[in-house]
Amino acid sequence: MSPLQMPPAPACAFASDNAAGAHPLVLDAIVRANEGHALAYGADAWTKESEARFSDLFGPTSSSLLVWNGTGANVMALAAMIRPADCIVCSQWAHIAVDETGAPERVLGTKLLTMPSTDGKLVPEQLDELEHLIGVQHHAQPGVVSITQSTELGMVYTADEVAALCDAAHRLGMKVHLDGARIANATAALGGTAAALRSFTVDAGVDVVSFGGTKAGIAFGEAVVFLDPELARRAMFIRKQVTQLPSKMRFIAAQFNALLADDLWIRLAQHSNGLATRLYESTKDIAGVTYDAAPQVNSVFPILPPQLIEPLQNWCFFWPWDVSRDQVRWMTAWDTTADDVDRFAAGVRAICTTT
Ligand SMILES: Cc1ncc(COP(=O)(O)O)c(C=O)c1O
Repeated sequence: MSPLQMPPAPACAFASDNAAGAHPLVLDAIVRANEGHALAYGADAWTKESEARFSDLFGPTSSSLLVWNGTGANVMALAAMIRPADCIVCSQWAHIAVDETGAPERVLGTKLLTMPSTDGKLVPEQLDELEHLIGVQHHAQPGVVSITQSTELGMVYTADEVAALCDAAHRLGMKVHLDGARIANATAALGGTAAALRSFTVDAGVDVVSFGGTKAGIAFGEAVVFLDPELARRAMFIRKQVTQLPSKMRFIAAQFNALLADDLWIRLAQHSNGLATRLYESTKDIAGVTYDAAPQVNSVFPILPPQLIEPLQNWCFFWPWDVSRDQVRWMTAWDTTADDVDRFAAGVRAICTTT
């Protein structure tokens, strides 16, 4: 069957969780927050509520600051963590290293030291290897390690793995940043409770978290959550300096209040994770489709026959991943349906078996 004869595809339904709209409860919250005037820059009731909600999640010594986007959250978090002459250690796949247009290097003036990884995860031994750099005046000093949870390759660190990394980092005098653009999906994968979230953040020893809202179901906005109160001291000034202070903050806060209420963020992530598993299960046996691993969260990374990638993309757009291996990424979102998955899998099967 040629792509032209295939049934209509769900429009770019597997391109990204960023391609999804915002959850209706989130949109309602924005509309409700639109009543009248409220003081700007976070001095409003919605922002106070969001601060209380984040404190409930991460504990009374934590503090949260809302920002515009994920790159900004990472830059702001890291700006609050590094000292002069520090470098930031991360995996070769880290969003801060490959997908932020060099923003951390440009804004922070800091070297990123990337480490090899097949699944986006770092291991403590990789930090131990850096010890020889410490105290040597010719080397940038490993000051922060940034890990991504869930990783850019859809893998999840267990709480023990994060704790072991934090121990290794702290032993070397380093701080730990967690890029949680998809922290909801990781939380869902690790048990789907606030306790699960705490186990791989607060309890594990993470110092600062970029808490993702956009991919989890809001329209725009992220939070930077400081678990180390010392690092939080100058954070509000840094947020403004790196251009991440929203004036009408109530609209970001209202969205988070809707997302965090009644564990909506976890329920939506459980849904998107489940549909990625369904997509994997319904495509893994198709001739020509191979996978390195089953999904742990809301993305799958199949390797496809190279000549079929473009026709499939023309039918239902998705992004390439590792072009050297003909690997692509299919991602589910909070609003993906089982029907989307079934139609897409049927299209993949049709194109792979008849072209
Ligand atoms: C792991 C990770 N971190 C951070 C971001 C930042 O997102 P943005 O700056 O596009 O809001 C993304 C977005 O795709 C991401 O996947």
